Amino acid sequence: MIVVSEVDPADEPTLRAFWETEQASVWHDRQYAIPRSWERLRSMMAHPNDWYRRTLLVARDGDALVGVADLGGSITDNLHLADLEIHVLPERRREGIGRALHDEAARRLRADGRTSVVGEVYCPAGSQGSGEAAYDFAAAMGYAPVHSEDHLMLALPVGGREVERLRGKVDKTAYDVLTWTGPCPEEHLEQFCEMHTRMSSDVPVGEIDYEPVLIDPERLRGREERVFRSFDGITSVARRRADGVFGGYSQLYLPHGADYVYQDDTLVMPEHRGHRLGTALKLATLELLQRESPDRRAIHTDTAVDNHAMQATNLDFGYRPVERMYEMQRRDG
Ligand SMILES: CC(C)(COP(=O)(O)OP(=O)(O)OC[C@H]1O[C@@H](n2cnc3c(N)ncnc32)[C@H](O)[C@@H]1OP(=O)(O)O)[C@@H](O)C(=O)NCCC(=O)NCCS
Repeated sequence: MIVVSEVDPADEPTLRAFWETEQASVWHDRQYAIPRSWERLRSMMAHPNDWYRRTLLVARDGDALVGVADLGGSITDNLHLADLEIHVLPERRREGIGRALHDEAARRLRADGRTSVVGEVYCPAGSQGSGEAAYDFAAAMGYAPVHSEDHLMLALPVGGREVERLRGKVDKTAYDVLTWTGPCPEEHLEQFCEMHTRMSSDVPVGEIDYEPVLIDPERLRGREERVFRSFDGITSVARRRADGVFGGYSQLYLPHGADYVYQDDTLVMPEHRGHRLGTALKLATLELLQRESPDRRAIHTDTAVDNHAMQATNLDFGYRPVERMYEMQRRDG
């Protein structure tokens, strides 16, 4: 019989078994995955934050751990929304374990007042979703696709001639590009927070019923504190020469102990578009990365399929799609 229970974050052997199950599941299906490290999971559970609550579930068959679920939701905004991710050991699939985990997760989320649940489903590049186990499972649980992104990869290093070509595209007259590593310098904090808030409302999320949130200095510093336990960060911002106003930013995260990099947010504020700032910002972080961390072998990023401007910029840098992610959502009530 399958029994589903909650993981006590202080129970390290169970937490470790949770992580090993997640790893086995991810690597069975996804050659290009960048799953969280053991250190990252441990750090996430050891330092719960004031904005987001995470609950881990495990499914056991006797003593054997055969599946896991990670459910979470913001506790300061978007109280109707929840995130859910389920993994079942490859050799134990199609036995109803995924459904058992889903049922228990859904019961808990309902009790918590969450009426809208989203989960990310990774399929091979170009896939239409249907016909892939993860997608069909989500559909069987009542979820429908509301947004899709390409998972793209850029092999490193990018050669000098290529960097030179990209440099030639950048407008150097109207904007300066500043870069930093680690936390945002205090003197830029206010403008940086404004851009993060804008990102929260501007990033394409398809039909997901997500309400934008205000990123104030406290929230930004809290996020930095959590992230920099497991990652190094490289940030670039574009500052308009005429008035010092920030027009956009881009961020790279370097997971500790790994050989890849994750390209996170890149935003050009609407009134600053049309100056190739996307290229300028990404190029600045790339050049700093190649100078200071030449050991990294690839950059991964996720870009909405219908974000044509960012797709074109990524293609120009040499990024290639390796997976298609479908965000699946179920609305109850
Ligand atoms: C998706 C996953 C969790 C399913 O787990 P599972 O234990 O095999 O799922 P279940 O046996 O409970 O299946 C429940 C229903 O989902 C559907 N389903 C599951 N796998 C399917 C597949 N390979 N093809 C078609 N339908 C499938 C079926 O309708 C199934 O009901 P049925 O067996 O009565 O026909 C598992 O394949 C997995 O861990 N994949 C990798 C991680 C992942 O992608 N997770 C989903 C994103 S959160």
